[in-house]
Amino acid sequence: MSRVPITININGMPTSAQVEPRTLLVQFLRDELELTGTHVGCDTSQCGACTVSLNGEAVKSCTLFAVQADGMDVKTIEGIGSVDELHPIQAAFWEQHGLQCGFCTPGMIMASAEIIRRNPDPSEDEIREQLGGNFCRCTGYHNIVKAITEAAAVMRQKGAEQGQAADD
Ligand code: FES
Ligand code: FES
Repeated sequence: MSRVPITININGMPTSAQVEPRTLLVQFLRDELELTGTHVGCDTSQCGACTVSLNGEAVKSCTLFAVQADGMDVKTIEGIGSVDELHPIQAAFWEQHGLQCGFCTPGMIMASAEIIRRNPDPSEDEIREQLGGNFCRCTGYHNIVKAITEAAAVMRQKGAEQGQAADD
């Protein structure tokens, strides 16, 4: 099959490649770029394990072709923190034991970022409703909800401190 050129800004780095038009974004990330933090749990838009950010909004990367992301910004779990400096959402999942096997966790964290982006102070009901597209088969969700609540609080506090510093 013929290939088409694409350039996607992935985790802040412009990445060019030739892909078959049928290549899913998640396949491109995992198989071509070895960004294997983005998982495939179902391949049918149900489990959310493949959630990434596309131009700032959470999407399921098994529902998009890589060519549809041409010219856009994609952020994956590899792009939101580091081992030395966890993102507040990663830190909160760690603190609140929001994971067991970890398979769902990258997608959960990317979905959590979207929930907090939409509302920096989400209620428990909002969190549970908006996690409807992300399945976890281990934790029972309780600690995931606690982790997102904690992360939102930490991020609000950091935002307030940065605002304060800018005013000083
Ligand atoms: S692998 Fe994409 S939603 Fe399950
Ligand atoms: S931690 Fe195992 S599926 Fe969520």
